[in-house]
Amino acid sequence: MAFTIKKICCIGAGYVGGPTMSVIAQQCPDIQITLVDMNTERIAAWNNPDLDQLPIYEPGLSDIVAEARGRNLFFSTDVEKAIEEADMIFISVNTPTKNYGKGKGMAADLKYIELCARQIADVATSDKIVVEKSTLPVRTAAALKSILHNTGSSVNFHILSNPEFLAEGTAIQDLLNPDRVLIGGENKEAIQALVDIYAGWVDKDRILTTNLWSSELSKLTANAFLAQRVSSINSISELCEKTGADVQEVAKAIGMDTRIGSKFLKASVGFGGSCFQKDILNLVYIARSYNLQEVADYWEQVILMNNHQKQRFADNIIQTLFNTVNGKKIAILGWAFKKDTNDTRESAAIYVADHLLNEQADIHVYDPKVPAEKVFVDLEYLNSRPDAETRRLASVSEDPYEACKDAHAIAILTEWDEFKTYDWARIKRNMKSPSFIFDGRKLLDRAQLEELGFVYYAIGE
Ligand code: NAD
Ligand code: UGA
Repeated sequence: MAFTIKKICCIGAGYVGGPTMSVIAQQCPDIQITLVDMNTERIAAWNNPDLDQLPIYEPGLSDIVAEARGRNLFFSTDVEKAIEEADMIFISVNTPTKNYGKGKGMAADLKYIELCARQIADVATSDKIVVEKSTLPVRTAAALKSILHNTGSSVNFHILSNPEFLAEGTAIQDLLNPDRVLIGGENKEAIQALVDIYAGWVDKDRILTTNLWSSELSKLTANAFLAQRVSSINSISELCEKTGADVQEVAKAIGMDTRIGSKFLKASVGFGGSCFQKDILNLVYIARSYNLQEVADYWEQVILMNNHQKQRFADNIIQTLFNTVNGKKIAILGWAFKKDTNDTRESAAIYVADHLLNEQADIHVYDPKVPAEKVFVDLEYLNSRPDAETRRLASVSEDPYEACKDAHAIAILTEWDEFKTYDWARIKRNMKSPSFIFDGRKLLDRAQLEELGFVYYAIGE
């Protein structure tokens, strides 16, 4: 029996649910989409008439929300009503690393997923297609099936896995023009119903269908491979610094080999973001749970290398500043984990700053999109020192020139384009001498800065 999808509900209005449903709503005006979340503040922000106040910043998103909101895109906290009315339900809730109990620090915490499944099971009175949009450990669909199929009612549920591959900062482009859409499932008609939605704007040959387990595992594998490339080039960046090779030249030279490819070879202060670390830890945990120690150790090394890269960046600042940063003002430009997002989850900046604060440095942060309070919350979450001490040592400026005034050093931790356009001569005039720049993104021009009198260090040079 073919399914007709008139109403979609998406549980979880975050970085994935928000942009994904906005694009589906824009592309499929005949489908009514309700995005629900238990976070009332987040839903209020999605409903804010002032589009600058949407809860997430993503280039191009506000235009799409403006077009679809109130037409066929709705944001609500009434989860049960949206579930009840929907033909298809996307689960797009967070799946963080567990911070308690068995698998603490490694496994994915599936409590939010299970809550959704139980809520769907309790509320549904008509057949539903349930789509896993969140990133999940392989075989999670088996647990969902077990919850949904044991309700005692006559309602039928079909489970699909449809992992999301968007990257923050380019989410809208990634959604409008995806490399591929992946749909795993068992029921042909249910798969076809989701294929038909994407086929509204995605070429059919880019829509892949697989079994459930391949789809779930492909998502973890894709993130592991991407992160592995970053750790690989970062490992070489350290060797470059010792040997006189330049990591950008090496990356270009190897990337022109079409078998290697040029993307994801940008050496940096370390990858951040909510997913790479979480998903690899999860992969490692799954491998260990099947007693595949070599597989687990292999992937764990990607994380260890990333931790090393953040640590050695901070160590280099301390060493270069004559082995002490105590009481020295250090400006941090960029707090988000990459440019064009206000997301700071697992940002390398948090760890570099924390390390410098342990050495009693006086930290001044500037980021064009991250609010001041978020910086403090991120630092306090690490629990490295009493909160009052963090707030005494760290401050956040709304003006980059203020952040850099009287600083001994500047650390560039996010590759925001605006940093390239600053009046660096003015910044130099107002800094202490010698004036150090530690460029964790290789964003700025060495020759120009050295001419202005800066002492310039960049990753991999
Ligand atoms: P997020 O934290 O931004 O959003 C999740 C939302 O779900 C939150 O607003 C939370 O309040 C809500 N929620 C949780 N449980 C709920 C419940 N029972 N009922 C209603 N609302 C509930 O997370 P995110 O970044 O959007 O990630 C979601 C999933 O997508 C994760 O599994 C992640 O790994 C995956 N993913 C994320 C990205 C990304 O770029 N952020 C990309 C691809 C995949
Ligand atoms: C990543 C993947 O790229 C997405 O395909 C995936 O859907 C998503 O994770 C997810 O599952 O959450 P995202 O984390 O948003 O997307 O951003 P990336 O562009 O992948 O960057 C991740 C981190 O790696 C950033 O800190 C970035 O600065 C860093 N990076 C990336 C490098 O240091 N060098 C590079 O060459 C590329």
